[in-house]
Amino acid sequence: MEKLIVSGGASLKGVVQIGGSKNSCLPILAASLLTPEKCVVRNVPDLMDTRVMCKILRWLGVHVSHDRKAGVIEMRAENPLGVAPYELVRQMRASVCLLGPLLGRLHNCKVSLPGGCVIGNRPIDQHIKGLSRLGAEMKVENGYVHARCDELVGTDVFMGGRFGSTVTGTANILMAAVRARGTTIIDCAACEPEIADLANFLIKMGAKITGAGGPTIEVQGVEELHGADHAVIPDRIEAGTFMVAAAVTGGDVEIKGACAPHLNAVRDKLEEAGVTVTRTNGTIRVWGGAKCRPLEITTMPYPGFPTDMQAQMCALMAITPGISVVTEKIYPNRFMHLSEMARLGADVALESNTAIIKGVNRLSGAPVMASDLRASAGLVLAALVADGETDIKRIYHIDRGYEHIDQKLRELGAVIERVDDQED
Ligand code: EPZ
Repeated sequence: MEKLIVSGGASLKGVVQIGGSKNSCLPILAASLLTPEKCVVRNVPDLMDTRVMCKILRWLGVHVSHDRKAGVIEMRAENPLGVAPYELVRQMRASVCLLGPLLGRLHNCKVSLPGGCVIGNRPIDQHIKGLSRLGAEMKVENGYVHARCDELVGTDVFMGGRFGSTVTGTANILMAAVRARGTTIIDCAACEPEIADLANFLIKMGAKITGAGGPTIEVQGVEELHGADHAVIPDRIEAGTFMVAAAVTGGDVEIKGACAPHLNAVRDKLEEAGVTVTRTNGTIRVWGGAKCRPLEITTMPYPGFPTDMQAQMCALMAITPGISVVTEKIYPNRFMHLSEMARLGADVALESNTAIIKGVNRLSGAPVMASDLRASAGLVLAALVADGETDIKRIYHIDRGYEHIDQKLRELGAVIERVDDQED
């Protein structure tokens, strides 16, 4: 296993290029199962999760060629199998996105339940409810979701759950509804840009979809879909992470290739904290020179403040004078990073789904353990401002979602090294 060794104190300066969105890419790759024709997906980030999705698609019999350097995946699903086994699905939760396209294409499939997740309980009841509404007979048995139907029939589907709309649930219903007979109205749909991106890919395949990116999506089912060529949108969470990296280190970073409107909630909070953020010609520039002010942050579905940026903001608030309050409304238990940040000297307390963070003057390096993707990003940011050296173990989590993060940070002046972890 590998670990990162970070020597804190450098102020980040320079330009960073943002890659394609992981969370757009994964359902889009799954959507290629809907046609026997060739699909080409571009701007694919070189991540563990995209490689796992390719592995699963190959297992299903899809011909996949992945040019990792160019960020291009070509796929042809002539005769896909309808079974996705536990050994593969457990490697990545997003493989639940196979349900919708496999059902749409084959009318019969069996996908393993994804299993536990360190960021909290992640049920799939809304996915199951939505696909049942479209006429599928859904059964959960022996750790698998079995879905079958003679045909899918368009209807209205309400996707709002206890913690808001579900993103991959909306993606699944969309990918099944494009092959249903008649019209489907998805109400309380997730509004995340990744859903609009998936819909744009499906439209290129011949689907008839309006309203994606908003709370009501209308889908007119079609009899067949054809191949398509699509470049995925930039990764808003990678961009947001570099915005906070600039702020926390008091740096000056130009973030290129991001879609600025997707980052309004992050920008708004950084500005409220006293960070300067400007946008010109596709570049977001963040100066973190001034002393920050504490914040109250509540995570919400898009366009609210993203849960996937919560850990990174906790790192910033840890060294911001005053008391910050961070409430997690999507995954109430997504606070594994707090105890590790406390090892670096952060003054944090947790009350139910709310973190109370009392800003300290300095953090100091210590060994810490990454627990999930965004928690790892939060720890890297905290380590960048901690005095001395921080060892971050189990960084395979960060490699699931950030493309060459250590290299990109090094190019901005961070002192960060990736080494084999002999002790693990
Ligand atoms: C997506 O997960 C993202 N993953 C997550 O990114 C992100 O944190 C999350 O959306 C929220 O924005 C991908 O897109 C691959 P949800 P998803 O279903 O779709 C509850 C990252 O770090 N819920 O929108 O699985 C659920 O428990 C990851 O990149 C139900 O109750 O999340 C949560 O409280 C982690 N029943 C809320 O809804 C369901 O059937 C939102 O979850 C489904 C979800």
